[in-house]
Amino acid sequence: MVRAFAPGRVNLIGDHTDYTGGLVLPMAVQLGTTVEVDVGGDEVRLDSADEPEPVVVPLDPGDPAAVEPRWGRYVAGVVAEVRPSVGATGTVTTTLPVGAGLSSSAALEVAVALALGFVGTPLELALACQRAEQRASGVPCGVMDQLTSAAGVAGHALLIDCTTLEVSPVPVPDGLEVVAVHSGQPRTLAGSAYAERRAACEGAVAVIGPLRDASLADLDDLDDPVVRRRARHVISENGRVRAAAVALAQGDAIGVGALMDESHASLRDDFEVSTPALDALVERLRGTPGVFGARLTGAGFGGCAVALCEPGALTEGWRLEAVDGARRTA
Ligand code: GLA
Repeated sequence: MVRAFAPGRVNLIGDHTDYTGGLVLPMAVQLGTTVEVDVGGDEVRLDSADEPEPVVVPLDPGDPAAVEPRWGRYVAGVVAEVRPSVGATGTVTTTLPVGAGLSSSAALEVAVALALGFVGTPLELALACQRAEQRASGVPCGVMDQLTSAAGVAGHALLIDCTTLEVSPVPVPDGLEVVAVHSGQPRTLAGSAYAERRAACEGAVAVIGPLRDASLADLDDLDDPVVRRRARHVISENGRVRAAAVALAQGDAIGVGALMDESHASLRDDFEVSTPALDALVERLRGTPGVFGARLTGAGFGGCAVALCEPGALTEGWRLEAVDGARRTA
């Protein structure tokens, strides 16, 4: 029997920055996905406690995006990347809310890859699982979710430079709570909106160069007002991530909270990935005594908000702890 656990993640700040080589500050969380398998046979067969239908994937899975049931696409994407020489039969269980913006798909991919015997560094694991996600979903996602799941550090957020792929752990001070609260709106990335946002950013890069090195003054060279706003979000968000990493390391919860609030406004107004339900939730969380800041987390279009607060300030949602990255446990 092989058992692997992969955590989900919550992103404290830095959304829609990873796929243009920007900065992000997520942490791996205690909620995650466990895959237990017996190795053998010539297919990968998994049951999930949360899904009515099992997944059966041959070792040469063809096009992962064509697999049914849909959750099997992520498994097939991983099989296509890991290319195990023998099959496996087992179960998937998760403590993550699925499709809530806490990277349930990345946790599934990383846990399946480890259970199927993936050998490599956490970065190699993350890159293989990022490709698996892209093949499975058709969404041109960045590497943040898979890298956080693979490389998490207990008690720390991860400052990730998505150009160099360097991961710098930043301690989360004692006496601060990170809470995720669901907006009540299911989130799906599979629509074209994520790809459209990415294309707009790439359009900006083609004119003003890497957004990570650009300044707000460079925005004047962008003629299209929509592309300009998308780039303004990314450039300003990279600055906020840098500042938030410093503030977090100094234990400056008020400073981090203010940056989270600004991040939400930028994602709402310039990047346009928030929803009325997320905006209302973020406002309500922010108005709660003991909350330092709140923002949507992940891709947006529904799913969760994340709040930074004093212990016990929020009694709803998921109180998240920073944990180590994915591992094989048996
Ligand atoms: C999704 C993607 C990530 C990242 C976020 C937005 O979670 O998988 O790569 O782009 O959206 O920050």
